[in-house]
Amino acid sequence: MPDNRYQLQRQRVRANFGRAAGSYDAVAQLQREVADRMLEQFQYERITPQRIVDVGAGTGYCTRGLEARFKKSEIIALDLAEGMLQQARREKKWLSKQRFLCADAQQLPLANESVDLIFSNFTLQWCQDLQGVLDEFRRVLRPGGLLTFSTLGVDTLHELRESWSKVDDKVHVNQFMDLQQAGDLLYQQGFIEPVTSVDRFTLTYPDVMALMRDLKGLGATNVNAGRRSGLMGRAVLQQLEQNYLARDPQGRVEASWEVVYGHAWKSDGFSEPQAFSLSLKDFNT
Ligand SMILES: C[S@@+](CC[C@H](N)C(=O)[O-])C[C@H]1O[C@@H](n2cnc3c(N)ncnc32)[C@H](O)[C@@H]1O
Repeated sequence: MPDNRYQLQRQRVRANFGRAAGSYDAVAQLQREVADRMLEQFQYERITPQRIVDVGAGTGYCTRGLEARFKKSEIIALDLAEGMLQQARREKKWLSKQRFLCADAQQLPLANESVDLIFSNFTLQWCQDLQGVLDEFRRVLRPGGLLTFSTLGVDTLHELRESWSKVDDKVHVNQFMDLQQAGDLLYQQGFIEPVTSVDRFTLTYPDVMALMRDLKGLGATNVNAGRRSGLMGRAVLQQLEQNYLARDPQGRVEASWEVVYGHAWKSDGFSEPQAFSLSLKDFNT
């Protein structure tokens, strides 16, 4: 039974990311690191996609990375927030063939079987209907097309979630999916050879307000239906800080980020679906 308190409000997602377009790049170090790891896979993947879509392109870091690797491909940067795409357009090189599409991953304005590669970094956690998104991905991919994504896993920001839970019973941190769910979903949606894996990062912040400021700078603010309404007073924030500091014997403000990766193909009509495999890697930064 879905918990309605965790319904993501799309208009707010769009507005928050639109507002964060100017601050995003300065605070997106982890997003860059994960993007680079995802882009690295193309050193080993022998594909020559004609059309690529970067879903949730944001300020276009991955779009530019894809363009550098696939110089002959048509590349579409797609995002829900127009502000993000405007920022991406400013960074685009003069001769670049990038195109920009303001749209929702849950309703892609793209023809059936018209895309060879769907790439998506740090975006699917903002989509309420993940099954619907994967349906759309499968619809627009050509037979034999590749989907590769990263999203956030259940352990992400668990320290913040636990610290808030001692302040009130409202929703302060999104609900994220686990590795198993990601693999299951890919398999159920008819993708073949799905592979999922996970990286774990721990980031340290000077204090809780610095963590909250970074989240705001990323556009990653609370858009859950069950969030606390109204302004947060100083006393509430002090209580949150105390709870957070009490968790660590050395009083450090550490935040866990669990990144789940998915990689799967659309059947070319000849290959049979296979069970997904799991691999685990742990990293600390
Ligand atoms: C954390 S940013 C990641 C940006 C970029 N992929 C990167 O690696 O820096 C998430 C992006 O997903 C976009 N987004 C969120 N929900 C979306 C949806 N349903 N459809 C398309 N884009 C969406 C946001 O506007 C935002 O630009």
